[in-house]
Amino acid sequence: MIKNVMTGIKIWDGFYQNNKTLKTFGKTVFDYSKPDGDIVELAKVFKKEKVKKILDLGCGSGRNCRFLSSKGFAVVGMDISKSAIKQAKKADGKIEYLVADMKKIPFPTDSFDALVSTQTIFHGRLQEIQQTINEIGRVVRNKGVIFITLQPVKGNKHRMGEKLEPNTYISNGGDDKGEIHHFFTKAEILKVFKELEFIDLHFVESNNYWYLLLRNKK
Ligand SMILES: C[S@@+](CC[C@H](N)C(=O)[O-])C[C@H]1O[C@@H](n2cnc3c(N)ncnc32)[C@H](O)[C@@H]1O
Repeated sequence: MIKNVMTGIKIWDGFYQNNKTLKTFGKTVFDYSKPDGDIVELAKVFKKEKVKKILDLGCGSGRNCRFLSSKGFAVVGMDISKSAIKQAKKADGKIEYLVADMKKIPFPTDSFDALVSTQTIFHGRLQEIQQTINEIGRVVRNKGVIFITLQPVKGNKHRMGEKLEPNTYISNGGDDKGEIHHFFTKAEILKVFKELEFIDLHFVESNNYWYLLLRNKK
């Protein structure tokens, strides 16, 4: 099976209609009712940086948008899944949400002071991910702060189904079965984000993800 955008949308629409937590092989990866712990900490950084407007790329049902909005930021949530956005709007009708593909972000250049994207941009082949990274660099203003999490190669053997290209697999189980995952090494992260400045890059064992805090430079 070769995944295209339509099958990706179908997977996530089905998921959000039926679930409140994301499980992979029986283990809860995260709970959609609570914000990501790193986002909670980052709100303090955003305040210091005088951030006003934030884009949450691949916002899902809006857990991180709601938290950031409660801290006084103007938040825009964007996701490819209509059912995710429907749930997000239902939970808080005041936050701006839209359905769109991260490879073509429908906002003008320099629209945001900051961008967050948890557990999202690795869904695709490396060339597609690079397209998304270019779009992120475009819509965030110069010196804007960008927070991204990525899946590591390490510890994900169980999720590697059909291989599409190096470190890129169609997941063979879990709630997001059928979705493409690219698993990153540190060297590869440094390469694909080379146009941006690294503030922090480390591996978070408890969440099994790479933590990237970047600053835009253009
Ligand atoms: C693992 S979920 C994470 C959701 C959210 N960031 C969170 O942490 O709660 C991945 C999300 O990426 C979204 N997604 C997948 N492909 C996308 C694309 N091409 N453009 C925008 N969103 C996408 C899915 O619909 C899903 O909501």
